[in-house]
Amino acid sequence: MIKALLFDMDGVLADSEGLSIAVGIDYFASIGVKADESSFRDSLGCGERAFFDITAAKLGLSGSPYSYDEASAFFRKRYTELIRGRNIALPGAGIVEKARACGIMTALASSAPEWKVMANIEAVGLSPAYFDFIATGADIKRNKPEKDIYELCLINLGCDASQAVVFEDTKGGIESGKRAGCRVVSMLTTIGREEAELYANAAVDNLASIPDFSSSEELEDFLFPHSSELVRYGACWIKPLEKKLPYDAVLRAAIEAARKAWEHGYAPYSEFRVGAAVVSARTGRIYSGCNVENSSYGATICAERNAITTAVACEGAIGIDLLVVYSDDDPPAPPCAVCLQVIAEFARPETRIVLVTPDSEPVEYSFSQMLPRPFIFPKMR
Ligand code: THU
Repeated sequence: MIKALLFDMDGVLADSEGLSIAVGIDYFASIGVKADESSFRDSLGCGERAFFDITAAKLGLSGSPYSYDEASAFFRKRYTELIRGRNIALPGAGIVEKARACGIMTALASSAPEWKVMANIEAVGLSPAYFDFIATGADIKRNKPEKDIYELCLINLGCDASQAVVFEDTKGGIESGKRAGCRVVSMLTTIGREEAELYANAAVDNLASIPDFSSSEELEDFLFPHSSELVRYGACWIKPLEKKLPYDAVLRAAIEAARKAWEHGYAPYSEFRVGAAVVSARTGRIYSGCNVENSSYGATICAERNAITTAVACEGAIGIDLLVVYSDDDPPAPPCAVCLQVIAEFARPETRIVLVTPDSEPVEYSFSQMLPRPFIFPKMR
């Protein structure tokens, strides 16, 4: 359920990135340095300081004649002159009013200085009153890609991250929204589709590509059509197989696959063979692997990781419903800590880990029993 929309300004509501870059190029020209559009590519969307400092560094300037304070003053003067009387609304900026009419809260989260945010709001044809909260670069110490500006919005709106959708157009902005725990929709106004689809949860050409909606549910269905079918497995969202095969049969087949792999275990040094099998949640397929040791001991790869990497090579991101470890240890060997961390990337707390030996009954644990607090990279949580 979407309770709030959090908008970046430049490149999302306002067609101002080009204007900012033109003024930036003018500033560097004024100190005798030639910059072009590409000089600003890595510094967009992360606040004025980054806009100038990162670009200056890229141009090989570490001090005089470059000065951030002078650049900032130059920018404010020239930008204000250029924007006066202009309409810089990007198509679809009316979504802000539409959302409010449906009872969805709205916030603006721009790393730009406050004067620029206010000038842009006016030049877009909106009013500050259209937003339940406005955060600018002045409200935070750490700029995008840190999560602070979006977290500040969430706190002020009293909204849980899972119920807020961020609209962004730069890599740094997407990262910021993700780190705050929100779902992020990327505009294709500034970055390309490939990058947007890699980093954001959804991508649209611009806000005008979002059809009319009259409720939060309609908007959710358009932006995240499969979201209700997706289940989080560690760092991955997976659509699980609708009709699962009977568990007993799956377990038997997985044990047999792990046993066969165990027979192939390459363990001339430890003489301790291990086989493993994982069952993919999306397809129900079983992938196996065995340990592969090496003359340089540290280069050894465990059976579980070999099974998992094979599964990923065949399917892409996977969800693991069941993982079998086969050895002739007593008691049966569990996955090592490194393997548990790798399993964590693709497992749910209830994922079954079954330990098997040739002579004893299988022993079952849940993944959360084996690793109660797995580490998952913040933006993937
Ligand atoms: N081993 C595995 O295959 N999986 C584990 O989780 C633990 C250890 C293998 C690696 C090495 O070949 C042998 O067991 C002895 O450490």
